[in-house]
Amino acid sequence: MATASNAKDLKTELAELAAKAGSVHELMSAIVRLLQERMLKYNWVGFYMLENAPGQAPMLVLGPFEGAMTPHTRIPLHQGICGAAASTGQTVVVDDVSKDPRYLACSLETKSEIVVPIFVREKVVGELDIDSHFPAAFKQEDRELVEYCAGLVGQRLASTSAGK
Ligand code: SME
Repeated sequence: MATASNAKDLKTELAELAAKAGSVHELMSAIVRLLQERMLKYNWVGFYMLENAPGQAPMLVLGPFEGAMTPHTRIPLHQGICGAAASTGQTVVVDDVSKDPRYLACSLETKSEIVVPIFVREKVVGELDIDSHFPAAFKQEDRELVEYCAGLVGQRLASTSAGK
């Protein structure tokens, strides 16, 4: 759904946002806002960050997002498409969520989804999740764009103590 030119323009803007943002949280908020505003099929855009509390199972916790509130504010790693992306460290693209038994419904309108892990020093620390009301909305260019965004957040986290 991204075209080569708008994905390229957006990457330039995203790099500028990354350079300007005063904190990782500010950067994540700016990314979700920009993606949801400019990519018309990106209907819900949000971050989940990995919480590793001592003595407790690792949990994905909802961070900055744009779109309707989701019932899934905390997702264990063995659940959902979100859990699959975080536990395997692989981008997951689902063209038809109704056919994926892992899918945790957020909105009845959602038809397709992409989840991209965020890495700091080769470890998954979170992910960027996007839902679309359109089936098969996420093509190769979208995947590259979303992976680029996840990379910006990973780099920023790596350069701050929060990423340690
Ligand atoms: N659909 C996700 C849950 C998060 S909501 O989309 C915001 C999943 O299956 O993990």
